[in-house]
Amino acid sequence: MPPIIIAIDGYSSCGKSTVAKEVARKLGYTYIDTGAMYRAIALYFLQHQIEEKEEEQVARALEHIQLRFVKNVETGIPEMYLNGVNVEEPIRGKEVAGKVSAVAALPMVRAFAVHQQQEMGKARGIVMDGRDIGTTVFPDAELKIFMTADPKIRAQRRYEELKSKNHSVTLEEVYQNLMERDAIDSSRAVSPLRQAADALLLDNSYLTREQQLSQIMGWAQKNIK
Ligand code: DC
Repeated sequence: MPPIIIAIDGYSSCGKSTVAKEVARKLGYTYIDTGAMYRAIALYFLQHQIEEKEEEQVARALEHIQLRFVKNVETGIPEMYLNGVNVEEPIRGKEVAGKVSAVAALPMVRAFAVHQQQEMGKARGIVMDGRDIGTTVFPDAELKIFMTADPKIRAQRRYEELKSKNHSVTLEEVYQNLMERDAIDSSRAVSPLRQAADALLLDNSYLTREQQLSQIMGWAQKNIK
């Protein structure tokens, strides 16, 4: 039963990572959160006042960025390390959320991240979530899923998640940020967010976690021969 690549793409905050982690755990695969990579790069840009429009600054910054996923021994979930430091908390905050789409739209940044993602996929047996996994990173992935959900429902879920982690935000701020990110992610010149022709659509607006998981596991089982 050779391991496959499962690519999960879709809009911001529609629960891709939650279900991707569970699918990976059930299959004994590695989960890779590519959004965390773009978020860590955006965090570095914020920390070092890197100007996105200055190509030389961006190129130099990328030479100093080392991204690594390290498995949390307690949860078994890989966490993002930027230059040796665990950045799981700061990359989920408001500042990074406001910056990340612009950073992720830069061709140099995308080339940097996509190359590393393709290297990670060489071992196969991965569940990778993002925006361009089925279209650009792994166009030959055995299973591609495109997730979506009603924007108001997505904002509410994200708001509750942030509140539970004590981030101070309003529902309106979260909604506006989601709309902005979706617009930038869908309209950028390089690898815009779009559903691959052979991706299966999963609208989870009214699905429970269990229903989503069983849908994806059903699809995965058909592809793992
Ligand atoms: O999935 P996320 O919300 O953590 O992603 C953060 C940002 O990174 C989001 O604005 C889109 C961008 N992103 C991307 O452009 N390509 C990916 N493969 C993953 C994320």
